[in-house]
Amino acid sequence: MTPKLRAELDGIPTYKPGRPPVSDEGAPAYKLSSNENPFPPLPGVLEAATAAAGSFNRYPDAACTELIAELAHRFGVPQTHIATGTGSVGVAQQLLQSTAGPGDEVIYAWRSFEAYPIITRISGATPVEVPLTDGEDHDLDAMAAAITDRTRLIFICNPNNPTGTAVRRAELERFLDRVPSDVLVVLDEAYREFIRDADVPDGVEIYRDRPNVAVLRTFSKAYGLAGLRVGFAIAHEPVAAALRKTAMPFGVSQLAQDAAVASLRSEEALLERVAGLVTERDRVVGALAAQGWTLAETQANFVWLRLGERTLDFAAACERAGVMVRPFPGEGVRITIGETEANDLLLSTADAFRKEL
Ligand SMILES: Cc1ncc(COP(=O)(O)O)c(C=O)c1O
Repeated sequence: MTPKLRAELDGIPTYKPGRPPVSDEGAPAYKLSSNENPFPPLPGVLEAATAAAGSFNRYPDAACTELIAELAHRFGVPQTHIATGTGSVGVAQQLLQSTAGPGDEVIYAWRSFEAYPIITRISGATPVEVPLTDGEDHDLDAMAAAITDRTRLIFICNPNNPTGTAVRRAELERFLDRVPSDVLVVLDEAYREFIRDADVPDGVEIYRDRPNVAVLRTFSKAYGLAGLRVGFAIAHEPVAAALRKTAMPFGVSQLAQDAAVASLRSEEALLERVAGLVTERDRVVGALAAQGWTLAETQANFVWLRLGERTLDFAAACERAGVMVRPFPGEGVRITIGETEANDLLLSTADAFRKEL
């Protein structure tokens, strides 16, 4: 006999992280498989985290007081509208715990962030996956048509992981006007800082006069704190209050809190790095297009190659060259924009692969 586990867990895959680099004979190897920021922490941020490490015999500030005050100031929102958590995926899980359970439905585009089906099914709710359009975009009309009286939460991943495609303001507003006011819409903006198209709305502006919209942001990507696990939601009071109830006590470490505060205070230097990555993204996109690849327009720190049956071959070729990418077998490969040398290696591998097709 084994302990009885919840039936909802049957068949749920374990979250698969991007593979770490493996290199032969000491050749450099690069990880372009997890959409991380390739730069090491900024000096001020590292110092803040190191200083906090001196008191890790103590619990962290459970209310994340300084971080929440800093975020409220940064975004011009009430402190009560901010809820922090263990990465934005932790906050997403709390949003599900707060809204959905067995018999309820959660809508999201597919393919999108791999954690959505996992955390939805853990909550006991039923995932309703709406295929992306042929252009790799959210199909907002089909998503609106999928709403039933059992729908509790809708994820809009903007820009979408893994395709990098973004929903524009007018289509998002039109969609939100069709969503019943008692259904929570979560704008997952993990890659917000990489957007350069002015028509892609800032979710924080959208949330202001829409009580059923919550915005998810993270320090893991542009801010380069993936290893510290800190993200947050901006949402109106009843939702933000539910997030405070469902928060894991002391979930966000003091290292993470202090590094996040220091990051917000060094934002200019961080955003300069982001601008450099965006320039690299444009270079990689241009070079891939010149090689003959067809790419959806990306607004994130990654590109998506829809390789279908050749996905695993391409990923293996990249691995042999010392670049780890993220394959979704049978569908495509997501490639993070990394350091220039890594991007160059990726481009030469993609070129050779294409010539052999
Ligand atoms: C769309 C999206 N949302 C959320 C996350 C989670 O990030 P974190 O939990 O590190 O904040 C990721 C990470 O890959 C992501 O791609």
